[in-house]
Amino acid sequence: MTTPNPHSESGGFTPLGGGPEALKSAMRHFPSGVTIITSGSGENAEGMTANAVLSVSLDPPLMLASVHRDARLNARIKEEKRFAISILAEDQEGHSRLFSSPERSSGLHAVHSLGDTRDGSEGPPLATGSIAAIECRLAETYPGGDHDLFLGEVIAVHLGDTRKNPLLYHEGEYPKLRKGDSPDENRAFMDSPRGYDARLQNFQRRKRK
Ligand SMILES: Cc1cc2nc3c(=O)[nH]c(=O)nc-3n(C[C@H](O)[C@H](O)[C@H](O)COP(=O)(O)O)c2cc1C
Repeated sequence: MTTPNPHSESGGFTPLGGGPEALKSAMRHFPSGVTIITSGSGENAEGMTANAVLSVSLDPPLMLASVHRDARLNARIKEEKRFAISILAEDQEGHSRLFSSPERSSGLHAVHSLGDTRDGSEGPPLATGSIAAIECRLAETYPGGDHDLFLGEVIAVHLGDTRKNPLLYHEGEYPKLRKGDSPDENRAFMDSPRGYDARLQNFQRRKRK
């Protein structure tokens, strides 16, 4: 006899319909990294916290960013036809909070907040201390409901301190990666199946002799 499943009728799901609140209820459980997308430079600089960012293609290298039609950054990307995506590190929660606030400053104040001190760069400011930053030239703009989808051709990648853990966003909070999930310990974990494969191959080679 099989054990009765209390959720068998709904398959364990609670149906919520297909509205915006329903979508939010599901997507808030989808963890993501956090980036700051920037466009313009100097007095014209604009930055915004974003997690709707995706690497689309490697050949050619393409990135996609979804930006609300009313966000200040949206108009700036359309004007400049260029943007940068800085991947935030765990110690940059303050950046995420600041650049998702409608009261934040634009222009030189924004550049200063990002800590970009690169001299003579005409490109968008990068968030100093981030894990990496990817500069893109706008290739296409697609309408996506109340957002626009900006497809960017990658023109430069800047690696920062990749030893830092990334900033995470989940259920409206910024949880920390657990110790055991840190990159170094993961590497040890990834080595063990490889070690296992090598032992298996040795074992099979010896058996064939
Ligand atoms: C973690 C996080 C991720 C976000 N991701 C996006 C995003 O991908 N696209 C977007 O348009 N807004 C996103 N937002 C919201 C904007 O950062 C926020 O609404 C900002 O104030 C919009 O710019 P505006 O003030 O110029 O309208 C995100 C906010 C947070 C906290």
